[in-house]
Amino acid sequence: MKLVTIIGARPQFIKAAPFSEVFRQHNTEILVHTGQHYDTNMSDIFFDELRIPKPDYHLGVGSASHGKQTAAMLAGIEEIILNEKPDGVLVYGDTNSTLAGALAASKLHVPVYHVEAGLRSYNQRMPEEQNRVLTDHLSTLLLCPTQTAVDNLKKEGITTGLLNVGDIMYDSVLRNIGLATAKYAHGEWLRQIQQDNASLPFLVEKGYYLATIHRAENTDDPVRLTTIFRAFRSLNKPVLLPLHPRTKKLVENLNLDLHNIHIIQPVGYLLMLFLTANANMVVTDSGGLQKEAYFLKTPCTTLRDQTEWVETLENAWNVLSPIEESTIITNVHRILTCLNHPQPRLFGDGNAAQKICDAVTRTER
Ligand code: UD1
Ligand code: UDP
Repeated sequence: MKLVTIIGARPQFIKAAPFSEVFRQHNTEILVHTGQHYDTNMSDIFFDELRIPKPDYHLGVGSASHGKQTAAMLAGIEEIILNEKPDGVLVYGDTNSTLAGALAASKLHVPVYHVEAGLRSYNQRMPEEQNRVLTDHLSTLLLCPTQTAVDNLKKEGITTGLLNVGDIMYDSVLRNIGLATAKYAHGEWLRQIQQDNASLPFLVEKGYYLATIHRAENTDDPVRLTTIFRAFRSLNKPVLLPLHPRTKKLVENLNLDLHNIHIIQPVGYLLMLFLTANANMVVTDSGGLQKEAYFLKTPCTTLRDQTEWVETLENAWNVLSPIEESTIITNVHRILTCLNHPQPRLFGDGNAAQKICDAVTRTER
């Protein structure tokens, strides 16, 4: 079988790694990088570390407004599909690259396979919600990470092509946590991040909060962004913040007080897994990181009003926090009763990549 796979943003590289490896054993994959993310530490670092095959096409679209960026991808992907004549197009997640891939394929009557189908925040203002709803409704195969995702789709009237394959990000964590530990244990993690931020204090395992912020709803509103930083300033442990370039630019403009906040460049996946596993808590608005925290049994506070990953809220492993200074502080300082609770297995068995491969190749026959 010949598949065109579309990737373009950081979380998609991480999802692509296990699938490409399994699929390419018996099939042909044409990998398309849209170029949505392009900094070395937002893109190349993942290809090197996770041994993702070199893309066959790189569209180099770069950053732009939603319309312009998506349109450039759409035009580029259409040409590739016409040229390659694949049996299907596979897309991951909910970025502009996802929607462009799904739309280009569906207009050419090529089957669309959506990995991470069925997630919903029910917040229509989120660009990701728009992308995932549209992509799901264009897809032939809806490869869901959880039973909740399957149920969400059924509520929208999608009843065929649904499959709960488990979460491919769980595959990635299981494959890589051992490597991450071998590479970064014994203080190597600290030496690594000190190279990036020489004024970093001495941090100890479980003695810091690991934070990331990049959602438009938080970054593009100066009041919300300032409130988050004011809360971080007052936390009882240092905050380690590998900062997305989008947020970095905005933080520089706001001239914020960075007391207790230690900004570093975005890091590679293995270091991120190590930092997550060894943080006292993760504080984030990232979708992927909420789950990684859960998989690695690190409590999480999510700086959003909704989450698509509702399973993580059980037993307060993850707590949603409104963007109010005192509420964020209270949530982060909460007593971690979750550590006494076992986690039910709600994200599959770590074999999502193989199940996706089986489903996609079965459909073709
Ligand atoms: C995108 C996805 C989001 C996902 C995130 C993962 C959309 C609508 N959003 O958000 O769902 O959670 O990726 O990280 O697709 N920039 C750089 N260098 C880069 C990439 C981006 O400097 O390599 C800066 C640019 O100023 C750019 C901004 O970040 O304008 C936003 O990038 P963009 O890809 O549009 O959205 P993300 O916020 O990264
Ligand atoms: N990540 C990383 N380095 C960082 C920040 C995040 O490797 O500095 C990884 C993180 O471990 C997770 C993925 O990037 O696997 C999440 O991507 P992001 O938060 O950008 O997007 P989202 O999941 O919110 O769409």
